[in-house]
Amino acid sequence: MRDLTKEMNNTMNFSSHVIKEYKCCKCGQLIKVIRLVINGKVRIANRCKVCDDRELEKEALQAYKNLQISKRERLFNEFSLISEGLKKSTFENYHPTNKELAEAKKIAKDYVDVFNEYKGLMFVGDYGVGKSHLSYSICKEVREKGFTSIFISVPELLTKLKSTFNNTGIYTEEELLIALKNVDLLVLDDIGADYPTEWAISKLFEVINSRVGKNNVYTTNSNAKELINKVGKRNFSRMMENIQLVKMNGNDFRLKNSKIWN
Ligand SMILES: Nc1ncnc2c1ncn2[C@@H]1O[C@H](COP(=O)(O)OP(=O)(O)O)[C@@H](O)[C@H]1O
Ligand SMILES: [Mg+2]
Ligand SMILES: [Zn+2]
Repeated sequence: MRDLTKEMNNTMNFSSHVIKEYKCCKCGQLIKVIRLVINGKVRIANRCKVCDDRELEKEALQAYKNLQISKRERLFNEFSLISEGLKKSTFENYHPTNKELAEAKKIAKDYVDVFNEYKGLMFVGDYGVGKSHLSYSICKEVREKGFTSIFISVPELLTKLKSTFNNTGIYTEEELLIALKNVDLLVLDDIGADYPTEWAISKLFEVINSRVGKNNVYTTNSNAKELINKVGKRNFSRMMENIQLVKMNGNDFRLKNSKIWN
């Protein structure tokens, strides 16, 4: 027969009492050290609840931040279209070779500092002077500040849009256009470099029109008149909204070691 009294006694086998009090060295909270006996097993409760809660809160915040960082990185990595060579570009390794280029670097850095004040930049000038280099650097630093950014070479974008998006790709055309529309900063590199077909102009319109009122950086080798011809009036007028022109002229950096300068 089961001994009911003994069983009841066992379930009641619980005691607790404060054996010590001290102040938490981190937060100053008074902590009661409690000795618990549960079913004959001794437990000591001596943790600071305030600090435990704070620690948990910190961990949750960090986990959230990590999630945001990986979201930013993923967006950038998945949707950017950028040549390998440019990836090493930073403000630090951009060494202006004349006054105009030094000014361009300053404007680019200032742009990052005040981001995300609604404003756009357009780097205009010769080939090989660092237009892509500086706009890529902006893209990277803006991301480090916690914003999302995508760097797109326009000729590559048009090639990509022309090739049919098939099921094997990581994203659809619609997803790409949505990403370009919603990103905090969009760099459209080398705009106006393509032969202006109606198709290209209307595809560009989808992107540029979705970026009105947002932060955009353009680079181009074309002057205003050429650019109007290349992208069409509608695109041009939208691109020019709230934009600062940054002239960049100088020798092609890629040829700097070449004999033709001697
Ligand atoms: N002033 C500079 N200092 C360091 N590297 C430069 C400088 N100007 C250009 N470059 C490098 O030269 C190459 C061409 O520059 P890029 O930014 O592509 O020129 P752009 O877009 O104006 O045609 C890139 O590899 C870039 O990093
Ligand atoms: Mg370029
Ligand atoms: Zn504490």
